[in-house]
Amino acid sequence: MISETLQKARDFEAQYTPYVSESERPMFHVTGGIGWINDPNGFSTYKGEYHLFFQYYPYKPIWGPMHWGHVKTRDFIKWDRLPAALAPDMPYDKDGCFSGSAIELPDGRHLLMYTGVREEPQPDGSLKSYQTQCLAVGDGVDYEKVQTNPVLTAKDLPKGGSTEDFRDPKIWKEDDGYYAIVGNRPADGSGSTLLFHSEDAFNWKFYGIAASNHHQYGMMWECPDYFKLQGKDVLLVSPQEMSPIGLEFHAGNGTVCMIGEADEKKHLIRENVHAIDYGIDFYAPQTLLAQDGRRIMIAWMQNWDTARSYPKGTRICGQMTLPRELSIRDGRLIQQPVREIANYYGEKIIYKNVPLSTETFLTGIRGRVIDMTVDVRPADGSTMYRAFRIHLAKDGEHVTTIRYKPEQGIVRVDRSRCGFRFDIVHVREFPVYSKHGCIRLRCILDRHSLELFVNDGEQVASFVLHTDESADVISFEADGEVRMDVEKYDLVFDEELRNEAL
Ligand code: FRU
Repeated sequence: MISETLQKARDFEAQYTPYVSESERPMFHVTGGIGWINDPNGFSTYKGEYHLFFQYYPYKPIWGPMHWGHVKTRDFIKWDRLPAALAPDMPYDKDGCFSGSAIELPDGRHLLMYTGVREEPQPDGSLKSYQTQCLAVGDGVDYEKVQTNPVLTAKDLPKGGSTEDFRDPKIWKEDDGYYAIVGNRPADGSGSTLLFHSEDAFNWKFYGIAASNHHQYGMMWECPDYFKLQGKDVLLVSPQEMSPIGLEFHAGNGTVCMIGEADEKKHLIRENVHAIDYGIDFYAPQTLLAQDGRRIMIAWMQNWDTARSYPKGTRICGQMTLPRELSIRDGRLIQQPVREIANYYGEKIIYKNVPLSTETFLTGIRGRVIDMTVDVRPADGSTMYRAFRIHLAKDGEHVTTIRYKPEQGIVRVDRSRCGFRFDIVHVREFPVYSKHGCIRLRCILDRHSLELFVNDGEQVASFVLHTDESADVISFEADGEVRMDVEKYDLVFDEELRNEAL
């Protein structure tokens, strides 16, 4: 049964989605049909296709009572829009269907596990949020909330656990049943991740604690994800109220990857902890295991601290990152754009061994929907240059600059002149592990974003750009002498353009 609240959201999106022009949307990054989106939810394989849901408020480009929007894909690049899947229409989720996950059940149904939020006025006039975990089952389009909701409540929490910060379940299956990891705030006020177990995915009980924060990495840990990768156990969390640690973590809402070995109770013994994405716009990542065994991650390409700074007249706010293939190298999480992006390559332009010092423009190297890899090295193999820069999304007024300083081992991205009219953070610096001044910078641009993959995904940094699409000039510059190779592909959906390029 479709509730009135869900039907209203579906009618609204069907009516207004067509009004959003092509240039307002990225080409291959997921956006809502209309309105606001934040976290990816329910990223899962269902009946041979990949489904993605997201935190969604269709009515305005701002956060509001959370619904779940819905899209699906076969290749992580081209997405089909589906009607909104969940609306806040039950007493236990009347103030929001918060983040969660999904799994295909053995009987062929698609199970969604999400956080129901109910707010109640308190005697002192404040509002208290009660967060519980809830389920809905469906067929890939329509979902029904189960009668037994909520399936995890305050009574399932370990002593000291908070009912106000108890959210974002991520479900997975093992031989002995289903597990879910849920973010929580224990008695010490910072974050932890709780594990729950179920034999049938409907009846759940507390299992243990995967990891606790003890005030080390921010405060509340939102949107946990926990999976095996190359024999290691990997925990991803999105902490609120982070304090920076050197250039590793920045202030505010951050993302942290913990790699280690889980003990027999699935408690993670950490071996390496580092940021997931070093840009400005990245939060709440979620992964799925693809049918071919790849672990693929997608995230909200925004940040709570900057998300409200959108251009006037915007009808959609928020987009997802490009899905990324994960692996582990030297104890660190490596992220590469999904390989399917190569199926959308149009015109290809290659330059080899270009000598460079002053600002240089290369014929054919321009564009705003492109995949461009630049390999840089000292010109004579040993004399170190002082800096290398790529300027992109550039016209007379606008520019976004990527700079690498080999002596410092630091990449800096500056989007101050990308069209934002807000006094928010526009510059990020992060350490990279290049040797002898050799660095590979892969830039994926899609109208309103830059995702930078350094040295085959050792570090990744994501940025929203507001620059008009007509600003498509790219130039290169060095302090000192370098040589570089450039390989650039236009990204196109039009099959004819793709074939011409072959
Ligand atoms: C993370 C988050 C989640 C919550 C959702 C609400 O960005 O705060 O913890 O479920 O967003 O939209």
